[in-house]
Amino acid sequence: PASTAELPHADLSVGGVPLTELAERFGTPTYVLDEAEVRARCRAYLRAFPDADVLYAAKAFLCRAMAHWVREEGLGLDVCSAGELELAVTTGFPPSRIVLHGNAKSPDDLSTALRLGVGRIVIDSTSEIARLAAAVPAGSRQQVLVRVVPGIAAGGHAKIRTGTDDQKFGLSLADGSAQHAITRILGQPRLHLVGLHCHLGSQITTVKPFLSAVRRLVGLLARIQEQHGVTLSQLDIGGGHGVAYRPGEAAMDIAALGAKVRAELAGGCAAAGLPVPRLTVEPGRAIAGPSGVALYRVLSVKRTGEHTFVAVDGGMSDNPRPALYGVRYAPRLVGRRSSAAPAPVSVVGRHCEAGDVLAAGVRLPGDVRPGDLIAVPVAGAYHLSMASGYNLVGRPPVVAVADGQARTLVRRESLADIQGRDIGL
Ligand code: LLP
Repeated sequence: PASTAELPHADLSVGGVPLTELAERFGTPTYVLDEAEVRARCRAYLRAFPDADVLYAAKAFLCRAMAHWVREEGLGLDVCSAGELELAVTTGFPPSRIVLHGNAKSPDDLSTALRLGVGRIVIDSTSEIARLAAAVPAGSRQQVLVRVVPGIAAGGHAKIRTGTDDQKFGLSLADGSAQHAITRILGQPRLHLVGLHCHLGSQITTVKPFLSAVRRLVGLLARIQEQHGVTLSQLDIGGGHGVAYRPGEAAMDIAALGAKVRAELAGGCAAAGLPVPRLTVEPGRAIAGPSGVALYRVLSVKRTGEHTFVAVDGGMSDNPRPALYGVRYAPRLVGRRSSAAPAPVSVVGRHCEAGDVLAAGVRLPGDVRPGDLIAVPVAGAYHLSMASGYNLVGRPPVVAVADGQARTLVRRESLADIQGRDIGL
């Protein structure tokens, strides 16, 4: 893993526009997306994985502009709902470059995918096989992958580990359910099995688990070849590449990952006498995360005996990650120079519970006060995509900055938006 000394946007500007100016113009809380950073991260993946399909994992963050940018850069898309799929397709995203995931796809997810002509569907359970086959219109064949659980423990937190058998995703290699599902799929004339998929987990910063995954999946490809005489042409190793949330933290080295995975795949296939399948990777966080900054205004500062609580105008409704996974961020004071010595504080949100903490035990200038602006870097992934309506505060807008110009991509959720859905009285 590479160690990052600095996070993106450490100069407190995005795309040439100071964060203070963005806060003035768009208000707070606001999420700022750096279009050039998104595009640069897409390009880094294409360089690291030439001759592969790079799919942006929409779950990290999706809006029309994001779909448009990743498509322009030449990426495909990984979606896991009819909602993500429809939104992408309405921006002109070619459905053939979209892959549908999900451990529990609804009838609507499947029918939307088939109606729009999604490229591949990843089968996650045995019961899905007949259900999907029955939904495919007569005379056509849907390309599918099988999600295999390779039995590899990796990932930043127990809640985001998916490579082992003790979780809900995929079909186990160890107990034979993956092999069983493959036999069943091969017996379905309306399903065309094109490859294997696995996703180990998220926020992984070392290459090794991915090499183990490639080894095990190549082993399975060889067994499928032997048993069924079928050569699968695709291998999708999922996403999960970790980023640094604080200065000095480890992040996945994407170039090294690409080089080593491709070498492992080529070597393994040569040894097994298999043609090298086309590789797919599905990064979400590593593209969106470092490209975003969250901006908050300080509303109150409370000093108790032992603690200083700096309360801002957002919180767990726009960023549930610290509460869910204990993730640690590096908030910074923006917009004024302070000569006060740094002091330990907790940056907390505005929601009605004590667990609404955005960053515990961080250091901010001792004179931090109401009205100050706080920036949280690396806020582009799994913040707004996981935002809730808690306390009916309304979700923040998304502002894009490119070449010194800022524009709203997603507007702030208003009280009218919230009340508009509430039609019961
Ligand atoms: N592919 C599949 C099948 C996935 O399930 C995921 C993420 C990805 C790709 C993209 O993983 P990434 O490259 O973004 O790590 N809410 C959690 C992360 C959940 C990840 C879910 N699946 C968080 O905030 O850390």
